[in-house]
Amino acid sequence: MKFKFVIAVAAALGAMSGGALAEGDAAKGEKVFKKCKACHTETEEKNKVGPHLVGIVGRKAASVEGYKYGKGITEAAEKIGEWDAEKLAAYLENPKDYIGGQSKMTFRLKKEDQRADVIAYLASLAK
Ligand code: HEC
Repeated sequence: MKFKFVIAVAAALGAMSGGALAEGDAAKGEKVFKKCKACHTETEEKNKVGPHLVGIVGRKAASVEGYKYGKGITEAAEKIGEWDAEKLAAYLENPKDYIGGQSKMTFRLKKEDQRADVIAYLASLAK
């Protein structure tokens, strides 16, 4: 199951390289993730200001138990479903617009290449 999932992610990231989204570089993404660290950890199932991001690629939106999500993302969760590279890129660009409501995450990652890199990094952790 896990193996298949990694393939799917790799395929999704590969498919993106020719499409609307740039292909990410996981090594660069690890550095970009420093911007997220004040509020998120990607290696431990521990919530900070934001929910932990362990297994975020492929995880259902707003699904961390014990984390009190905002109303906006809670209401949009059903529609978002499971986070994939494309959805994460749209969310990170502008969380409020993406969920179409009030967001507790006011941080925005404006550079497209940084979004692609950080998502590649998060996807690489799913192995
Ligand atoms: C200033 C704090 C802050 C920063 C910086 C921040 N976030 Fe968040 N993030 C949050 C909060 C708070 C939430 C919960 C959103 C809500 O409930 O509306 C969240 C939610 C998320 C979610 C949805 C999680 C889920 O369980 O559905 C993702 C994905 C995410 N952040 C990724 C990132 C990434 C990647 C970065 C860095 C590029 C980042 N965040 C930077 C505070 C932050």
